[in-house]
Amino acid sequence: MAETWTPDSWRAKPSKHLPIYPDAAALQAVEARLRSYPPLVFAGEARNLKRDLAAVCEGRAFLLQGGDCAESFAEFSADNIRDTFRVLLQMAVVLTFAAGSPIVKVGRIAGQFAKPRSAPEETIGGVTLPSYLGDNINGIEFTAESRIPDPERLLRAYSQSASTLNLIRAFATGGYADLDFVHRWNLGFVSDSPEGARYEELANRITEALDFMRACGVNSQTLPQLHTTEFYTSHEALLLGFEQAMTRVDSTTGDWYDTSAHMLWIGDRTRQPDHGHVEFLRGVKNPIGMKCGPSLDPEELLRLTDILNPKNEPGRLTLICRFGAENVEKHLPALIHAIKREGKKVVWSCDPMHGNTIKASNGYKTRPVDRVLAEVQAFMAVHRAEGTHAGGVHFEMTGQNVTECLGGAQAITETDLGDRYHTHCDPRLNASQSLELAFMIAEGLKTERVNAQKLAVGAK
Ligand code: PEP
Ligand code: CO
Repeated sequence: MAETWTPDSWRAKPSKHLPIYPDAAALQAVEARLRSYPPLVFAGEARNLKRDLAAVCEGRAFLLQGGDCAESFAEFSADNIRDTFRVLLQMAVVLTFAAGSPIVKVGRIAGQFAKPRSAPEETIGGVTLPSYLGDNINGIEFTAESRIPDPERLLRAYSQSASTLNLIRAFATGGYADLDFVHRWNLGFVSDSPEGARYEELANRITEALDFMRACGVNSQTLPQLHTTEFYTSHEALLLGFEQAMTRVDSTTGDWYDTSAHMLWIGDRTRQPDHGHVEFLRGVKNPIGMKCGPSLDPEELLRLTDILNPKNEPGRLTLICRFGAENVEKHLPALIHAIKREGKKVVWSCDPMHGNTIKASNGYKTRPVDRVLAEVQAFMAVHRAEGTHAGGVHFEMTGQNVTECLGGAQAITETDLGDRYHTHCDPRLNASQSLELAFMIAEGLKTERVNAQKLAVGAK
């Protein structure tokens, strides 16, 4: 029988990638304050997301999860939030059109701060300092003082998350997401690119369809779904003290929910079955994700699936695969076979970012867009061959015109990287590269849909 879970039972286990705060009393005081703060999301909303992800699990919807690698205090502005939101809306529209099925939209936003780093220290010009761990823990400035973990940063991150979520809710339900505005989501600098033009074409077709529906008496007054959208938040549940402080009993069900986001995931570096991160997430009822990298073997995956989703509920667990474009065929089929053999219900999602990070010759950490696209293609091809549903994608992007990933239709070169390289951690797709990704996935989903129709006709 599983041991009793409590919001703090993770504390009895070892946990990797947790910062060491020099002032433990100050940390405790901040965590106590956070416990008294309002929840950021509601348990009922997390249940709605789980219901939507159950549809993905059953092959009736597709998950689109994206946003910053690391949100920062410096990049916090209404314009940035709006631009991330609108690029995700554009991508969702492209995919809805192709898949003919609902797109579940989840942002890596409103709480995605803490970062597990490959190395605990960083050396620049002969000086070695602790690594930057995310704006909610320490500062990115390369000084000894700024790199000391400071608990006060948690309060600022909480407040930034609350304002971000507030604006997103307003965008999602206050009219901005109305399908009548499908043209307005095209950003100025994107509209001149090939993806921008392709998007305009698609937006014209949607507008025509809406005109037709209006003539038939269907409009955003009669069908409110045309006027609003559902948008969920997520982040890596890395900083367990913060997550614990945000974990509350839902008064309707008596269950524990982590109210810091609708969905939480476990990173590839912290998914040890007997460690703190798995212990914490097994007890909250939110839909959860787990990154699956090349070091995960099928038996361990099954063990983790049993711990994290003991009742085998569809929508509870999303497996976010991140192998690197060349390694998908080597690792993914064995994981799919194990899951199929044991009849486990999971959502399969593809993170084409974290296995494709390289260092450019001028030192920039970057990702070639063609590798990113190739990983998604390989992921979809394996699922097609296995007869399983390629359920979603998980990616790092921004609505800004940054130059962080190489290539794409704008053909960003190594020398261009320095122009607008703003990320606080990993390189993100910019708005046009994100649209390019959406159009490519759309092709894959169209093939899946056509194959399913052929099968249905054949079965008659
Ligand atoms: C991330 O998603 O930013 C991340 C660190 O990913 P992973 O755990 O897959 O390396
Ligand atoms: Co990242």
